[in-house]
Parts: sequence; structure tokens; C-alpha cells
Amino acid sequence: MSTYKIVTYGCQMNVHESEKIAGILRGMGMSESETDSADVVVFNTCCIRDNAERKAVGQIGRFKQLKKENPDAVIAVVGCMTQQDGAGLALRKKFPFVDIVLGTNNTEKIGEYIRDAVSARKKTVEIDDDPKPAIAEGYPYYRTSGVNAWINIMYGCNNFCTYCVVPYVRGRERSRTRDAILREFEQALADGYKEVTLLGQNVNSYGNDRADGYGFAELLTDLAKYGGDHRIRFMTSHPKDMDEKVIDIVASSPNICNNIHLPIQSGSDKILKLMNRHYTRDDYLRIIDRIREKMPDCGITTDLMVGFPYEEEEDFEDTLDIVRRVGYSNAFTFVYSPRRGTPAASMPQVPAEVSKRRIMRLIAEQNAVTRRLSREYVGGVYRVLCEDVVEKNGVVSVCGRTESGRMVTFGGDGSLVGTFCDVKINRAQSAALFGEKV
Ligand code: SAH
Ligand code: SF4
Ligand code: F3S
Repeated sequence: MSTYKIVTYGCQMNVHESEKIAGILRGMGMSESETDSADVVVFNTCCIRDNAERKAVGQIGRFKQLKKENPDAVIAVVGCMTQQDGAGLALRKKFPFVDIVLGTNNTEKIGEYIRDAVSARKKTVEIDDDPKPAIAEGYPYYRTSGVNAWINIMYGCNNFCTYCVVPYVRGRERSRTRDAILREFEQALADGYKEVTLLGQNVNSYGNDRADGYGFAELLTDLAKYGGDHRIRFMTSHPKDMDEKVIDIVASSPNICNNIHLPIQSGSDKILKLMNRHYTRDDYLRIIDRIREKMPDCGITTDLMVGFPYEEEEDFEDTLDIVRRVGYSNAFTFVYSPRRGTPAASMPQVPAEVSKRRIMRLIAEQNAVTRRLSREYVGGVYRVLCEDVVEKNGVVSVCGRTESGRMVTFGGDGSLVGTFCDVKINRAQSAALFGEKV
């Protein structure tokens, strides 16, 4: 086994878990394949919506051919999809050429099972459904996200929003220890990462599973103390745990970005209740007011869903109203997708054409807001952390983000990647900003 390929679907947590899998495979002496095939192929799956699942299933199917051409290749399926009720065996049945299926609590054993597959052609399906397994510490990460290092601070979710599979496939909330997080943070800075993004299904619920009172605000306070030129971001925050202490520490710490991802899902109290979100639109707007009061320049982003069961036109109008009122710099918009085993899947469903019409209107509304906010950047000078080079029509530029999370493209070359630059914004095009280094 000399090369590997990891195909990742889903959220940043999955992207980061693929970095762990890459760390394990590299520890076994493998390197990343530069072609479409490899000796070991790992699918790290997602099942948050039907289309995420379908994409993964379609891709796995395509690898039947690889197995024909290279019968010694090892194919593994891991991640959230495998953890759904009965999915492990169903996957093995649908894709008999798959060698290894591992649940979300079993991923770390991938190295061992690859060895078994190679030495004895042994097939493995291992899905542990303990909702509160111990956190696996001490595995090497092979970071692949440029200047940014992801650090997971908590796993799982206790909220059981009625549409969502995450609590079923990721188990209950478990927070990593302060020591483990600080050590990983120090290492990331020592390795030269200029940005660290703290991850969790609900990152600001950190510590709720412990009795010692050490929560997200306390963790941010500790992390903010580290000197040096770097940035800290975090996602995703749940409105129910977005307290004053967290807002204060973000506002008062120069190295914690004024950038908050705060999914509201819907602007209608009726729908929020049916979703089991534990806040009202007024509670949410009060949090937004607090954030704006302390950080007028804060970039606020969100997740929005249309077509949830019982959503009427007036509920949808409430969502549009929230979009106009809050002024999100960006919003991830989704059509509700029924997930097997979740309460909302057995509620009356909104017709697909109604959801489609609503999502189009929602996207148009948010685009108008984005354009308006983008224009406000023009003429200003912003500090940008350069992330990458972009090449268009033979011209090389660099791109990076402002503290508020906006992507800026400007003249420069690869030598700027990983450095902070002051950039004057000259032009805005939808969400994209263009400028020059000053
Ligand atoms: N823990 C985060 C969200 C994680 S899932 C939170 O509570 O905010 C990311 C996003 O996917 C959610 O915010 C939601 O907007 C969307 N989502 C989750 N389940 C969905 C479903 N069944 N159909 C459509 N969108 C869904
Ligand atoms: Fe899913 Fe709700 Fe948990 Fe977010 S808080 S992961 S939407 S159940
Ligand atoms: Fe998908 Fe699992 Fe993330 S379902 S969104 S990969 S937690």
C-alpha cells in the first residue's frame, strides 16, 4: 500500500476528521495519490441532507471499476452515513466491493483494518453506537487547510432539532479537556499556522457536559492570552448558548475574529418551536443587537432552511424579514430534507415546488443584502490574512479574508501566503471584494 485518496463530504468537522485519517495513513508510510485512483480509497461521508447522501453513494459506486482494475485496492467508507440505523450492512450489501465500513466512533481503527484487508483480505464492518464514547486523543493530524488549523473542541450534539440526524450519528456532547486543546493550539502556533478555527457541532456549548464551570468563554479567555500575530475563529455557535460572556471576550480580544456564524434556521416562532430550537426570533434578535453593540464591524453569517413541515407563506415572510433586518454577510440556505428516524420526517411535508420557489426568493433576498454590505467595504482598508494564490486569464493574484470573514482578492504572489496585508478595497462584486495592497 503506497498511496491513498480521501474523498470528503459534509461539514468542517468531517474535513478535519479526514486530516486525522490522512495522519494515520501517512504514519503507515503512505502518501497522497496524485491521480483519481489509489491503493487505499476512503470515503468520509455525510448524511445531513438527501443530496449529500446521494452524492456519496454515486461516488462510491464509481469505484467499483477501480476495484476491477486493481483488486488489491482497499476501499473504506467512514463518517456519518455509516452510523445511521442499519446503514453499515446496507452499504456492504449495496457495494460488496467495499472492504471496510466504520462508524463515527471507530474511525481511528482504520489503519488496523487496512492491514487486515491487505494481509488476509478481511472485510470489516464496525459500528459502535455508544452515544458517549471516550474522545480519542493523541492521533496525528495531517493538516490540509493551508494557513488555517482546525481544532475540534467538542463532539456530538444534545439538541435533537426535529429535522436533524447529527445527534443520532454523532452521539451526545463531549468536550475535550482544556489541557488537550491548549496543547494542540500551542502546537499549531509553533508549526506556523496563522489562523486557528475552533470546531464543534455547537462550539459555544463547550463545557456544558462538565461540572467545573469551565465553558466556552473561559476557553476563549485562555486562548486569547497567547501572544503573536495570529487569528482565532470558531464555528458553529448555537443561539441558545450565545451568552454575554462569549460576546464580551470576542469583542475585547484583538486576536479573536469579529466573525460569528449563528444559524437561525427560520424567522418564524411557530417553525422554531416545531424545530425544537429553544429560542424565539426576539431572543435571536436580542443576541444580534448585543453583538452589534459591542462589535459594529462583526461579520455575522447564518444557516437558513425553507420548506420545513407546516411552513406557511407568512412563516417564510418572517424568514425574509430576518434576512433584511440582521444583514448577514453570508447565509447558507437549504431546502428542508426529511431524514429517516427524525420527528420532522413524519410531519406533513411542504410540496417541493413551494420549497423551490421559496429558496429562490430567499437566495435573491440574501444576495441583495450581500451586495449592499459589500459596497460598504469599497474605499476602506482592511487587514487580510493571505490564504492562497488565484490564477485567472494568466494573471496571478492572492486571496484571503478580512477579520469579518470576507474574501478579498488583490495583486500579489505566493510569497504573501501566510502573511497579513493591509488591503484597500476598490471594487465589490456580490460577495467578492477586490483591492490592492497598501
Ligand atoms: N449545529 C449547527 C448545524 C449543523 S448542520 C446548528 O445547530 O446550527 C448544518 C446546517 O444544515 C444546519 O444549520 C441546517 O440549516 C442544515 N440542516 C440540518 N439538517 C437538515 C435537513 N434535514 N434538511 C435541510 N437542512 C438541514
Ligand atoms: Fe443538528 Fe440541531 Fe444539533 Fe445543530 S443543534 S447539530 S441542527 S440537532
Ligand atoms: Fe454531515 Fe455529519 Fe457534518 S451529517 S454535516 S458530516 S456532522
